[in-house]
Amino acid sequence: MRKTIIAGNWKMYKTINEAIDLANNLKRELFKVNFAAVDVVLCPVFTALSEVAEVLNETDIQLGAQDIYWQDEGAFTGEVSGLMLKDAGCRYVIVGHSERRQFFGETNETVNKKIKAALKHGLTPIICVGENLQERESNNTFKVIQEHIKGGLADISAQDLLKTVIAYEPVWAIGTGKTATPEQAQEVHKFIRDLLRKMYGEELACSIRIQYGGSVKPENIAELMAKPDVDGALVGGASLKVDSFSSIVIKASEVLK
Ligand code: PGA
Repeated sequence: MRKTIIAGNWKMYKTINEAIDLANNLKRELFKVNFAAVDVVLCPVFTALSEVAEVLNETDIQLGAQDIYWQDEGAFTGEVSGLMLKDAGCRYVIVGHSERRQFFGETNETVNKKIKAALKHGLTPIICVGENLQERESNNTFKVIQEHIKGGLADISAQDLLKTVIAYEPVWAIGTGKTATPEQAQEVHKFIRDLLRKMYGEELACSIRIQYGGSVKPENIAELMAKPDVDGALVGGASLKVDSFSSIVIKASEVLK
């Protein structure tokens, strides 16, 4: 049994007060329903982490960050360490998001270091993998996914990998309104699970959660979740509004796996 996980990636949106408001409103909305079947995670900007942690205190909604640096402290201007994320109240951290790969030089090697740093501090890394449009159109999707998985997970033990979440996010579906079809998502999720089976064995492959990300909204969450290898969603745009994000959580919790 894999517990569904829905995470909201707020990206570079929301001031501290706006983040507090959104978290409070989500808390209020989700309080009305039973979402015990779903792990819910909110990932605001660094500056709002502590305040959102306070809002989420004593709720079942978890806090996550959007990035991590692999050193604990030092002369690394602009970076934030796992130690500091833990200190701010985080339980999760997104690693290797395509926007970081695309705009900030993230590579499979740096992703690997960040995963190790997250694990060292007891944070659950949400490890993002995914092909861009050109890679898909040139039939290189599986090759790219395999490189992201093998490179990102180098020297990570099965025991540690069990403490992670994978997010498949086709770059061409992020923020474009163009969702992968449930069949396209399932095909890649299955490929990832089969690859992990070869690398780590049956038990791990069956236990690890693989989220889908890319234009997830209330209208498509149920059909995506109905696929056997889709264990949740990493939601960008639709996580910035109370109605759409709470609706995604509720609909995901209604899908029987
Ligand atoms: P989107 O973003 O839902 O806005 O497409 C998803 C993500 O980047 O994690």
